[in-house]
This record gives sequence, C-alpha cells and structure tokens, in this order.
Amino acid sequence: MIYLDNSATTKPNPAVLESYRHISEMMFANPSSIHQFGGESEKLLFKAKDQASYLLGVSRGEIIFTSGGTEGNNLAIKGIALKHQKRGKHIITSTIEHPSVYNTCNSLESLGFEITYLPVNEKGEVSTKELKSAIRNDTILISIMHVNNELGTIQPIEEISQIAKKHPKLFLHVDGVQGLGKVPLSLDNSGIDLCTFSGHKIHGLKGTGILYVKNGTTLFPLFHGGNQESGIRSGTENLAGSVSLVKALRLMKEREKKRTGGLIRYTSELTKKIGRNR
Ligand SMILES: Cc1ncc(COP(=O)(O)O)c(C=O)c1O
Repeated sequence: MIYLDNSATTKPNPAVLESYRHISEMMFANPSSIHQFGGESEKLLFKAKDQASYLLGVSRGEIIFTSGGTEGNNLAIKGIALKHQKRGKHIITSTIEHPSVYNTCNSLESLGFEITYLPVNEKGEVSTKELKSAIRNDTILISIMHVNNELGTIQPIEEISQIAKKHPKLFLHVDGVQGLGKVPLSLDNSGIDLCTFSGHKIHGLKGTGILYVKNGTTLFPLFHGGNQESGIRSGTENLAGSVSLVKALRLMKEREKKRTGGLIRYTSELTKKIGRNR
C-alpha cells in the first residue's frame, strides 16, 4: 500500500524518533531547574532554538516552540486580538482557512470582534484587490494561509505582505503549516509578523510546532504560568519534542533542495492529465 495522505500527516522519520527517544532518556531535567542537569537542558533548548532560527532564516528570539499548528494559530490570532483590542477589533481572514484559524476567528465574534471573511475565486485564491478594500482604520490583523490543506492553492503572500507593510499598525499572520518544505516562503524582512508551523507535516512528531513571532510583536498569552518562552507560552518545555522538530526541519531542508523542482513538474503533469480526462 502506498500512503498518499501526507497533507493530513506524515510518517515520522526514524532519525527524528531516535532523537526524541535519546533526549527523553538522557536530558530529562527541567530547563528551568537551577542545578547542573537543568542548566544542560537549558543549553540544549537554546541550541535547538538557534538551529531552528538558522533553518528558518530568522533570529533566535523569534522562535516559540508550540504543540503544533492548532496552538500556533490560536496563539497568533487570539494573542494579537486580546493584546491589541484597544486599537481596533476588526480582523480579516478568508473563507477557506483551516478550522484552527476559521473557528478561532469565529470564536472572537462572541467577544465583540468583527471578522471579514474574504471569498476566493474558482482556484481558491484570495483577491488582493478585495483585501485592500477590506482594510479599515480599526483592522488589527490579517490572517491568510500560505498553502491550502485541501486544494493546494498557494496564496499570493508576497503581495499580501506588501499591502500589510503599508499599514504598519496591523499585523500579518500566515498559517504556513502546509507550505513548509514544499513552497518557499521567506520570513525575515517579509512583512509577515507571525507564521505557524507544525512538526507532524514534515516527518516530525505530533505535538510539536513553531510559531514565528517577529521581534517587537506582542501577544496576550493563551497559557499563564512560569513565564517560559519569554512569557508567551508558559509550561515546562518539551525539550525532546523541540530537538526532534529541529531534526525534522534539517532533514526537510535537505529534501527541499532536491525535490521542489520534481514536485512542481509532477503537479503540472497531473493537472494536464486531469484536464484531458474531463
Ligand atoms: C493548514 C493547516 N493549518 C493548521 C493545521 C493544524 O495543525 P496541527 O494538526 O499541528 O494542530 C493543519 C493540519 O491539518 C493544516 O493543514
């Protein structure tokens, strides 16, 4: 049997599983503990952040380890909404977002936020013209996904970023879960303030993820507690999960270099074949 449901989840890479097992066994101390073992765990956590930031082309302080895409999207959207609501209560998203974005925006309506759900064309693309005209003085956030999880549609994130840059008071969040490792997206100096990634879509483990939070972007936390992750995400860090995620990211980058051209070719061949058989 050939497994073809990689948008839903991927098979964990054995090297990723091994790094999780190894760190869980050897480096189980709490990174916040002040004894030597805790210090070693903390050092490894910093190293994992350094490597993740290098692989994603951002700085260490901009990486928040999360439990995956759903948490990242909730933290980004509710975090901006609750922190910046005095400035405005209007959010723009699209009708074809993943439920972790769509339902999160929906839930904010009950707290008095107004959401504009941009429609898409027959290919599933958001119109940048409609986006421009939807922006208001009280808009605090635009949340648009990079690659759609059902259609595979790639949204014009670069153009959307250019539009967002002209409105320095609003934040731009991108759900980057399905694009990671498949469609290049640069974060640094891009106009993107927040970007969500999930480990289990790139042959990493379920329950691992990253939220990119651009320096200077402030969020209301979903979890309050011991102020881990710069106070944005309290809770004892999942060190083994984070190290294994970095391993998955590194392997993904190696595959990305070899494979992207091939994927684009397969997609265009498949699209042609489907067109011919209609
Ligand atoms: C586009 C997109 N965003 C978010 C998620 C949620 O990610 P997770 O399963 O890591 O919570 C998914 C998962 O299917 C997805 O495809």
